Amino acid sequence: MERVYFDNAATTRCDPRVAEVMLSCLTESFGNPNSEHAFGHKAAHLLEEARATTADCLGATPEELTFTAGGSAAIHLALTCLAQAGRARSNRVILTAVEHEATLQTGRLLGQEGFEVVQLPVDEEGSVELETAERELARGAAFLSVLHVQNEVGTLEPIEALGALAREAGVPFHLDAVQSCGQLPLDLANLPVDMLALSAHKFYGPKGIGALYIRRGLDLAGTALAPGGDLAPHAGTPDVAGAVGLATALKLATSELSERAARISKLRDLLIEEVLSSVPDARLSGPRAPRANGIAHFTFPGLEGEALVTRLDLKGYAVSTASACKASSAQPSHVLKAMGMPASRLYGALRVSLGKDNTAEEVKTFVQALLEAVNSLRLLAP
Ligand SMILES: Cc1ncc(COP(=O)(O)O)c(C=O)c1O
Repeated sequence: MERVYFDNAATTRCDPRVAEVMLSCLTESFGNPNSEHAFGHKAAHLLEEARATTADCLGATPEELTFTAGGSAAIHLALTCLAQAGRARSNRVILTAVEHEATLQTGRLLGQEGFEVVQLPVDEEGSVELETAERELARGAAFLSVLHVQNEVGTLEPIEALGALAREAGVPFHLDAVQSCGQLPLDLANLPVDMLALSAHKFYGPKGIGALYIRRGLDLAGTALAPGGDLAPHAGTPDVAGAVGLATALKLATSELSERAARISKLRDLLIEEVLSSVPDARLSGPRAPRANGIAHFTFPGLEGEALVTRLDLKGYAVSTASACKASSAQPSHVLKAMGMPASRLYGALRVSLGKDNTAEEVKTFVQALLEAVNSLRLLAP
Protein backbone atom coordinates (compact mmCIF):
# COMPACT_ATOMS: atom_id res chain seq x y z
CA MET A 1 0.00 0.00 0.00
CA GLU A 2 1.22 3.50 -0.89
CA ARG A 3 1.32 5.55 2.29
CA VAL A 4 0.60 9.27 2.31
CA TYR A 5 2.12 11.50 4.96
CA PHE A 6 -0.18 14.30 6.10
CA ASP A 7 1.37 14.91 9.54
CA ASN A 8 3.98 17.53 8.68
CA ALA A 9 3.16 19.61 11.76
CA ALA A 10 4.36 16.68 13.92
CA THR A 11 7.56 16.36 11.93
CA THR A 12 8.80 16.48 8.36
CA ARG A 13 10.89 14.09 6.30
CA CYS A 14 14.52 15.17 6.36
CA ASP A 15 15.31 16.58 2.90
CA PRO A 16 17.84 14.26 1.19
CA ARG A 17 19.93 17.37 0.33
CA VAL A 18 20.15 18.07 4.08
CA ALA A 19 20.91 14.45 4.99
CA GLU A 20 23.73 14.38 2.43
CA VAL A 21 25.48 17.41 3.92
CA MET A 22 25.02 15.97 7.43
CA LEU A 23 26.47 12.61 6.46
CA SER A 24 29.64 14.23 5.21
CA CYS A 25 29.80 16.21 8.43
CA LEU A 26 29.36 13.11 10.61
CA THR A 27 31.82 10.92 8.75
CA GLU A 28 34.41 13.38 7.42
CA SER A 29 34.33 16.62 9.44
CA PHE A 30 33.78 14.88 12.76
CA GLY A 31 36.21 16.80 14.95
CA ASN A 32 35.31 18.48 18.22
CA PRO A 33 35.08 22.20 17.41
CA ASN A 34 36.77 22.97 20.73
CA SER A 35 39.91 20.97 19.77
CA GLU A 36 43.12 22.75 18.87
CA HIS A 37 43.98 20.87 15.68
CA ALA A 38 42.93 20.76 12.03
CA PHE A 39 39.99 18.38 12.70
CA GLY A 40 38.70 20.72 15.39
CA HIS A 41 39.25 23.84 13.30
CA LYS A 42 37.31 22.32 10.40
CA ALA A 43 34.37 21.45 12.68
CA ALA A 44 34.50 24.90 14.33
CA HIS A 45 34.44 26.52 10.91
CA LEU A 46 31.39 24.45 9.87
CA LEU A 47 29.60 25.31 13.11
CA GLU A 48 30.22 29.04 12.72
CA GLU A 49 29.21 28.87 9.08
CA ALA A 50 25.95 27.15 10.14
CA ARG A 51 25.35 29.86 12.75
CA ALA A 52 25.98 32.63 10.20
CA THR A 53 23.70 31.00 7.59
CA THR A 54 20.90 30.52 10.13
CA ALA A 55 21.25 34.11 11.35
CA ASP A 56 21.25 35.43 7.80
CA CYS A 57 17.99 33.58 6.99
CA LEU A 58 16.34 35.24 10.01
CA GLY A 59 17.67 38.80 9.69
CA ALA A 60 19.79 38.29 12.83
CA THR A 61 23.53 38.31 13.55
CA PRO A 62 25.49 35.12 14.36
CA GLU A 63 26.20 36.37 17.91
CA GLU A 64 22.46 36.40 18.54
CA LEU A 65 22.02 32.64 17.93
CA THR A 66 22.52 29.67 20.23
CA PHE A 67 21.94 26.12 19.00
CA THR A 68 19.79 23.95 21.29
CA ALA A 69 18.59 20.35 21.45
CA GLY A 70 15.32 21.21 19.67
CA GLY A 71 12.36 23.54 20.04
CA SER A 72 11.27 22.48 23.53
CA ALA A 73 14.81 22.93 24.86
CA ALA A 74 15.03 26.41 23.28
CA ILE A 75 11.70 27.44 24.81
CA HIS A 76 12.59 26.10 28.25
CA LEU A 77 15.95 27.85 28.19
CA ALA A 78 14.47 31.13 26.99
CA LEU A 79 11.67 31.27 29.53
CA THR A 80 13.66 30.15 32.56
CA CYS A 81 16.39 32.69 31.79
CA LEU A 82 13.91 35.51 31.11
CA ALA A 83 12.09 34.70 34.36
CA GLN A 84 15.32 34.66 36.35
CA ALA A 85 16.62 37.88 34.79
CA GLY A 86 13.28 39.67 35.19
CA ARG A 87 12.39 38.54 38.69
CA ALA A 88 13.59 41.71 40.34
CA ARG A 89 11.23 43.68 38.09
CA SER A 90 8.18 41.43 38.35
CA ASN A 91 7.22 37.96 39.52
CA ARG A 92 4.54 37.63 36.86
CA VAL A 93 5.01 35.79 33.56
CA ILE A 94 2.50 35.96 30.70
CA LEU A 95 1.67 33.15 28.26
CA THR A 96 -1.40 32.37 26.20
CA ALA A 97 -3.98 29.66 26.81
CA VAL A 98 -3.06 27.93 23.53
CA GLU A 99 0.69 27.46 23.97
CA HIS A 100 2.55 24.26 23.14
CA GLU A 101 3.15 21.87 26.03
CA ALA A 102 6.85 22.92 26.15
CA THR A 103 5.77 26.44 27.18
CA LEU A 104 2.94 25.32 29.45
CA GLN A 105 5.25 22.88 31.24
CA THR A 106 7.88 25.59 31.78
CA GLY A 107 5.09 27.86 33.03
CA ARG A 108 4.07 25.20 35.57
CA LEU A 109 7.68 24.94 36.78
CA LEU A 110 7.90 28.72 37.13
CA GLY A 111 4.61 28.62 39.04
CA GLN A 112 6.18 26.17 41.49
CA GLU A 113 9.03 28.64 41.93
CA GLY A 114 6.61 31.34 43.01
CA PHE A 115 5.88 33.14 39.75
CA GLU A 116 2.33 34.17 39.02
CA VAL A 117 1.57 32.61 35.62
CA VAL A 118 -1.00 34.54 33.59
CA GLN A 119 -2.60 32.80 30.61
CA LEU A 120 -4.10 35.19 28.06
CA PRO A 121 -7.48 34.01 26.73
CA VAL A 122 -8.19 33.54 23.03
CA ASP A 123 -11.35 34.11 21.00
CA GLU A 124 -13.21 31.39 19.10
CA GLU A 125 -10.72 31.72 16.23
CA GLY A 126 -7.86 30.97 18.62
CA SER A 127 -6.50 34.55 18.48
CA VAL A 128 -5.20 36.25 21.60
CA GLU A 129 -7.40 39.17 22.64
CA LEU A 130 -5.25 42.28 22.34
CA GLU A 131 -7.12 44.37 24.93
CA THR A 132 -6.54 41.72 27.60
CA ALA A 133 -2.90 41.42 26.55
CA GLU A 134 -2.45 45.19 26.86
CA ARG A 135 -4.08 45.25 30.28
CA GLU A 136 -1.96 42.37 31.60
CA LEU A 137 1.26 43.77 30.14
CA ALA A 138 0.57 47.13 31.78
CA ARG A 139 0.71 45.36 35.17
CA GLY A 140 4.30 44.33 34.40
CA ALA A 141 5.85 40.92 33.74
CA ALA A 142 9.21 39.19 33.47
CA PHE A 143 8.22 38.12 29.94
CA LEU A 144 5.45 37.54 27.42
CA SER A 145 5.64 34.28 25.47
CA VAL A 146 3.39 33.57 22.50
CA LEU A 147 3.43 31.00 19.72
CA HIS A 148 3.33 32.24 16.14
CA VAL A 149 1.43 29.37 14.51
CA GLN A 150 -0.78 27.32 16.82
CA ASN A 151 0.41 23.76 16.25
CA GLU A 152 -2.97 22.02 16.61
CA VAL A 153 -5.37 24.25 14.71
CA GLY A 154 -2.84 26.09 12.52
CA THR A 155 -4.05 29.64 13.18
CA LEU A 156 -1.63 32.59 13.40
CA GLU A 157 -1.37 34.85 16.42
CA PRO A 158 -1.14 38.65 15.95
CA ILE A 159 2.55 38.70 16.84
CA GLU A 160 3.41 42.16 15.47
CA ALA A 161 0.66 43.76 17.60
CA LEU A 162 1.57 41.69 20.67
CA GLY A 163 5.26 42.49 20.25
CA ALA A 164 4.48 46.20 19.95
CA LEU A 165 2.36 46.09 23.13
CA ALA A 166 5.16 44.25 24.96
CA ARG A 167 7.71 46.85 23.81
CA GLU A 168 5.48 49.66 25.00
CA ALA A 169 5.17 48.00 28.40
CA GLY A 170 8.92 47.24 28.60
CA VAL A 171 8.27 43.47 28.81
CA PRO A 172 10.64 41.12 26.89
CA PHE A 173 8.80 39.17 24.19
CA HIS A 174 9.59 35.50 23.38
CA LEU A 175 8.15 34.01 20.21
CA ASP A 176 7.68 30.26 19.76
CA ALA A 177 8.28 30.12 16.01
CA VAL A 178 8.63 26.34 15.88
CA GLN A 179 5.70 25.95 13.46
CA SER A 180 6.37 29.08 11.43
CA CYS A 181 10.12 29.18 10.95
CA GLY A 182 10.94 28.01 7.43
CA GLN A 183 7.27 28.22 6.43
CA LEU A 184 6.48 31.95 6.80
CA PRO A 185 8.79 34.94 6.34
CA LEU A 186 10.50 35.90 9.61
CA ASP A 187 12.63 39.04 9.58
CA LEU A 188 14.01 39.66 13.04
CA ALA A 189 15.47 43.00 11.95
CA ASN A 190 11.89 44.25 11.74
CA LEU A 191 9.92 42.13 14.20
CA PRO A 192 9.46 43.38 17.79
CA VAL A 193 10.72 40.07 19.19
CA ASP A 194 13.43 39.68 21.85
CA MET A 195 13.82 35.91 21.80
CA LEU A 196 12.69 33.31 19.29
CA ALA A 197 12.71 29.50 19.38
CA LEU A 198 12.89 27.31 16.26
CA SER A 199 13.29 23.63 15.49
CA ALA A 200 14.88 22.03 12.41
CA HIS A 201 12.63 18.97 12.12
CA LYS A 202 9.64 21.15 11.27
CA PHE A 203 11.29 22.43 8.08
CA TYR A 204 12.77 19.24 6.59
CA GLY A 205 15.84 19.25 8.80
CA PRO A 206 16.99 16.76 11.46
CA LYS A 207 15.28 16.11 14.81
CA GLY A 208 16.82 17.10 18.13
CA ILE A 209 18.36 20.37 17.01
CA GLY A 210 16.91 23.84 17.31
CA ALA A 211 18.06 27.36 17.90
CA LEU A 212 17.32 30.23 20.20
CA TYR A 213 17.62 33.80 18.96
CA ILE A 214 18.51 36.30 21.69
CA ARG A 215 18.31 39.93 20.67
CA ARG A 216 21.60 41.76 21.24
CA GLY A 217 21.42 43.89 24.38
CA LEU A 218 18.68 41.84 26.05
CA ASP A 219 19.47 41.80 29.75
CA LEU A 220 20.10 38.19 30.82
CA ALA A 221 22.72 38.98 33.47
CA GLY A 222 23.25 36.21 36.00
CA THR A 223 21.60 33.53 33.84
CA ALA A 224 23.05 30.58 31.88
CA LEU A 225 22.69 32.66 28.72
CA ALA A 226 24.73 35.64 29.94
CA PRO A 227 28.02 36.15 28.04
CA GLY A 228 30.35 33.44 29.32
CA GLY A 229 27.43 31.61 30.98
CA ASP A 230 27.04 27.80 30.85
CA LEU A 231 24.86 27.96 27.77
CA ALA A 232 26.29 30.99 26.00
CA PRO A 233 26.79 30.37 22.26
CA HIS A 234 30.28 28.91 22.53
CA ALA A 235 29.91 26.59 25.53
CA GLY A 236 29.89 22.76 25.51
CA THR A 237 30.54 20.26 22.68
CA PRO A 238 27.98 21.18 20.05
CA ASP A 239 26.08 18.96 17.61
CA VAL A 240 27.92 20.18 14.53
CA ALA A 241 26.13 17.90 12.05
CA GLY A 242 22.79 18.92 13.55
CA ALA A 243 23.63 22.62 13.29
CA VAL A 244 24.82 22.17 9.71
CA GLY A 245 21.61 20.23 8.94
CA LEU A 246 19.48 22.97 10.52
CA ALA A 247 21.27 25.72 8.57
CA THR A 248 21.08 23.81 5.27
CA ALA A 249 17.37 23.08 5.76
CA LEU A 250 16.61 26.69 6.70
CA LYS A 251 18.56 28.04 3.73
CA LEU A 252 16.60 25.75 1.38
CA ALA A 253 13.32 26.66 3.09
CA THR A 254 14.13 30.37 2.75
CA SER A 255 15.11 30.23 -0.91
CA GLU A 256 12.11 28.01 -1.78
CA LEU A 257 9.72 29.72 0.65
CA SER A 258 7.40 31.54 -1.73
CA GLU A 259 7.17 28.61 -4.14
CA ARG A 260 6.47 26.12 -1.30
CA ALA A 261 4.01 28.47 0.40
CA ALA A 262 2.02 29.03 -2.80
CA ARG A 263 1.87 25.30 -3.59
CA ILE A 264 1.07 24.11 -0.06
CA SER A 265 -1.56 26.74 0.68
CA LYS A 266 -3.30 25.90 -2.61
CA LEU A 267 -3.42 22.25 -1.51
CA ARG A 268 -4.69 23.32 1.93
CA ASP A 269 -7.50 25.35 0.37
CA LEU A 270 -8.42 22.41 -1.85
CA LEU A 271 -8.45 20.14 1.20
CA ILE A 272 -10.66 22.51 3.20
CA GLU A 273 -13.08 23.01 0.34
CA GLU A 274 -13.36 19.28 -0.39
CA VAL A 275 -13.75 18.23 3.25
CA LEU A 276 -16.39 20.87 4.03
CA SER A 277 -18.36 20.12 0.88
CA SER A 278 -18.18 16.31 1.03
CA VAL A 279 -18.21 15.32 4.71
CA PRO A 280 -21.51 16.08 6.47
CA ASP A 281 -21.15 18.15 9.68
CA ALA A 282 -17.40 18.67 9.24
CA ARG A 283 -16.28 22.03 10.55
CA LEU A 284 -12.99 23.89 10.12
CA SER A 285 -11.49 25.17 13.39
CA GLY A 286 -10.66 28.90 13.37
CA PRO A 287 -12.21 29.47 9.93
CA ARG A 288 -11.74 33.24 9.84
CA ALA A 289 -8.26 33.52 11.35
CA PRO A 290 -5.18 33.76 9.14
CA ARG A 291 -3.67 30.28 9.04
CA ALA A 292 -0.44 28.40 8.39
CA ASN A 293 0.19 27.30 4.82
CA GLY A 294 -0.18 23.61 5.49
CA ILE A 295 -2.37 23.06 8.56
CA ALA A 296 -6.13 22.46 8.59
CA HIS A 297 -8.00 21.23 11.65
CA PHE A 298 -11.52 19.81 11.46
CA THR A 299 -14.05 18.57 13.99
CA PHE A 300 -16.73 15.94 13.47
CA PRO A 301 -19.43 15.90 16.17
CA GLY A 302 -20.05 12.62 17.97
CA LEU A 303 -16.86 10.95 16.67
CA GLU A 304 -13.58 10.08 18.39
CA GLY A 305 -10.53 11.64 16.75
CA GLU A 306 -8.37 8.64 17.73
CA ALA A 307 -10.73 6.21 15.97
CA LEU A 308 -10.65 8.39 12.86
CA VAL A 309 -6.85 8.53 12.88
CA THR A 310 -6.65 4.72 13.21
CA ARG A 311 -9.12 4.13 10.37
CA LEU A 312 -7.24 6.52 8.13
CA ASP A 313 -3.92 4.92 9.03
CA LEU A 314 -5.34 1.55 7.94
CA LYS A 315 -6.23 3.20 4.64
CA GLY A 316 -2.65 4.52 4.30
CA TYR A 317 -3.05 8.14 5.46
CA ALA A 318 -0.98 9.53 8.34
CA VAL A 319 -2.90 12.30 10.14
CA SER A 320 -3.26 13.34 13.76
CA THR A 321 -5.84 14.22 16.37
CA ALA A 322 -3.83 17.22 17.49
CA SER A 323 -0.26 17.75 18.58
CA ALA A 324 2.03 14.71 18.54
CA CYS A 325 2.55 14.98 22.28
CA LYS A 326 -1.17 14.62 22.99
CA ALA A 327 -1.93 11.76 20.61
CA SER A 328 -2.03 9.09 23.30
CA SER A 329 -3.97 11.06 25.90
CA ALA A 330 -7.75 10.92 26.07
CA GLN A 331 -8.00 14.47 27.42
CA PRO A 332 -9.70 16.98 25.14
CA SER A 333 -7.28 19.52 23.77
CA HIS A 334 -6.61 22.59 25.92
CA VAL A 335 -6.54 24.58 22.69
CA LEU A 336 -10.05 23.62 21.59
CA LYS A 337 -11.32 24.23 25.13
CA ALA A 338 -9.71 27.68 25.18
CA MET A 339 -11.40 28.44 21.84
CA GLY A 340 -14.75 27.64 23.46
CA MET A 341 -15.45 24.65 21.21
CA PRO A 342 -18.77 22.97 22.11
CA ALA A 343 -18.44 19.68 24.02
CA SER A 344 -19.89 17.69 21.08
CA ARG A 345 -16.87 18.68 18.94
CA LEU A 346 -14.09 18.40 21.50
CA TYR A 347 -13.31 14.73 20.87
CA GLY A 348 -13.83 14.37 17.14
CA ALA A 349 -10.79 16.42 16.12
CA LEU A 350 -8.53 15.82 13.15
CA ARG A 351 -5.43 17.75 12.09
CA VAL A 352 -4.22 17.37 8.53
CA SER A 353 -0.86 19.00 7.92
CA LEU A 354 0.44 19.16 4.38
CA GLY A 355 4.03 19.44 3.28
CA LYS A 356 6.12 20.29 0.26
CA ASP A 357 5.98 16.79 -1.23
CA ASN A 358 2.18 16.31 -1.12
CA THR A 359 0.03 16.47 -4.25
CA ALA A 360 -3.54 17.44 -5.21
CA GLU A 361 -4.21 13.81 -6.14
CA GLU A 362 -3.29 12.73 -2.59
CA VAL A 363 -5.64 15.37 -1.16
CA LYS A 364 -8.53 14.18 -3.33
CA THR A 365 -8.13 10.49 -2.53
CA PHE A 366 -7.71 11.37 1.14
CA VAL A 367 -11.04 13.19 1.26
CA GLN A 368 -12.70 10.09 -0.18
CA ALA A 369 -11.02 7.92 2.49
CA LEU A 370 -12.05 10.40 5.18
CA LEU A 371 -15.66 10.33 4.05
CA GLU A 372 -15.67 6.51 4.17
CA ALA A 373 -14.05 6.51 7.61
CA VAL A 374 -16.53 9.08 8.99
CA ASN A 375 -19.52 7.21 7.53
CA SER A 376 -18.41 3.84 8.90
CA LEU A 377 -17.70 5.27 12.37
CA ARG A 378 -21.07 7.02 12.38
CA LEU A 379 -22.75 3.68 11.70
CA LEU A 380 -21.04 2.30 14.81
CA ALA A 381 -21.84 5.34 16.98
CA PRO A 382 -24.51 4.72 19.63
C1 LIG B 1 4.47 25.27 18.49
C2 LIG B 1 5.49 24.28 18.94
N1 LIG B 1 6.37 24.64 19.88
C3 LIG B 1 7.31 23.80 20.34
C4 LIG B 1 7.43 22.52 19.83
C5 LIG B 1 8.51 21.62 20.35
O1 LIG B 1 9.54 21.47 19.40
P1 LIG B 1 10.50 20.19 19.45
O2 LIG B 1 9.68 19.04 18.91
O3 LIG B 1 11.63 20.51 18.55
O4 LIG B 1 10.91 20.00 20.86
C6 LIG B 1 6.52 22.07 18.86
C7 LIG B 1 6.58 20.68 18.36
O5 LIG B 1 5.58 20.10 18.00
C8 LIG B 1 5.53 22.98 18.39
O6 LIG B 1 4.65 22.63 17.48
